[in-house]
Amino acid sequence: MKSTRKSKAPATPSHRPPATPSHRPPATPSHRPPPTGRPRVESGFAAVADLGAPFVARPSLADRDALDRVDVSVDIAPQRGLRLATPILVASGTFGYGVEYGEVVDVQLIGAICCKGTTLRPRAGNRPPRVTETPGGMLNSIGLQNPGVDAVIDKYSSIWQGWKVPVIVNVAGESIDDYVEVVRRLDGVPGVAGIELNISCPNVGKGGLQFAIDRDAARAVTAAVRRATDLPLLVKLSPNVADVRPIAKAIEEAGADAITAINTLSGLAVSADRTRAFLGNTYGGLSGPAIKPVALRIVYEVAQVVSIPIIAIGGVTSIDDVLDFLACGAVAVQVGTAIFADPELPVRLGDELRAECVRRGLASYAPLIGTALPKHAGASSANGAEYRP
Ligand SMILES: Cc1cc2nc3c(=O)[nH]c(=O)nc-3n(C[C@H](O)[C@H](O)[C@H](O)COP(=O)(O)O)c2cc1C
Repeated sequence: MKSTRKSKAPATPSHRPPATPSHRPPATPSHRPPPTGRPRVESGFAAVADLGAPFVARPSLADRDALDRVDVSVDIAPQRGLRLATPILVASGTFGYGVEYGEVVDVQLIGAICCKGTTLRPRAGNRPPRVTETPGGMLNSIGLQNPGVDAVIDKYSSIWQGWKVPVIVNVAGESIDDYVEVVRRLDGVPGVAGIELNISCPNVGKGGLQFAIDRDAARAVTAAVRRATDLPLLVKLSPNVADVRPIAKAIEEAGADAITAINTLSGLAVSADRTRAFLGNTYGGLSGPAIKPVALRIVYEVAQVVSIPIIAIGGVTSIDDVLDFLACGAVAVQVGTAIFADPELPVRLGDELRAECVRRGLASYAPLIGTALPKHAGASSANGAEYRP
């Protein structure tokens, strides 16, 4: 998959980020990156404690030739092959079907588009209000409003087919049969490059227990979809569990090509008169910068127990967020809520990652992956100890 820009990056495999195991820290300490170019703490009371951070300028984004010499391509599904021109994707539900943004940004320069959640039948979504802001994020309960898989195929697949940017269809359902049927209909449709399973959905066969918080259900739905398609299969983790690692392992064992992490955190807002919950659906999903530390922790933990690629999601607004997720073992990131304020961000982050590599003298970003992971086996756990003050 090539960018529309003329790329001078060498096509040799040695410049590719390691596909598997993606989570391994680089072998030699000399690959450890120097401090990032910007003080980490930029505002608020914490800035007072961070006055000594070094400032090292990044190369100008105007130096196109230097940027294009860096290979930031990545295969996020090495078993089946899904190569992206950059490791910056857009997250499901925040970029529509891609076509809506054509006037605002060159969508072909994005790594991949995860389209809106798609179900077997059309869904009207939840009762309003469906969105509210919170400090550092937003709370949404859209309720998977979408026209259904057949309409999605009719309306968008012929457009996607002509695109360079791969489109990954985000699939939701209320039963394993639902998921399998949606994926069967998408299988072989030109323009559909892969599937991302949103398993943060109630499983009607199990009293509404979400697939994503039940290891056996997560395994079963992944395995059933795996049997139904040879398309690259990404499965998206929910953060709303005590320990996500057994679930991630079950998903890997069931044949997923990659893990995406994380979906929104379950949250609640109260009405202005404090007589009820604010959202029509009572609960909503929290997204944005507020959830980044949770997403980092989950990527860090999962990277130590699976070998398939991890694509991080959660509060990405800057290149430093991207670098943090790579350091914790992700091979790529998705940008979600931040797109509402800055639709060009996913494209700019691709160039900023190239600039970061130029600054560090790297031909690819592979050495940036996994640098913050423990150097020895034995995954640390978040089973309580880390939360002590
Ligand atoms: C308005 C909105 C709609 C979303 N819809 C979906 C969806 O249909 N399927 C899905 O898997 N995730 C959905 N998400 C979750 C995002 O893809 C992403 O996992 C989450 O927002 C965290 O990333 P962020 O903090 O960068 O926004 C939605 C998020 C938002 C804000």
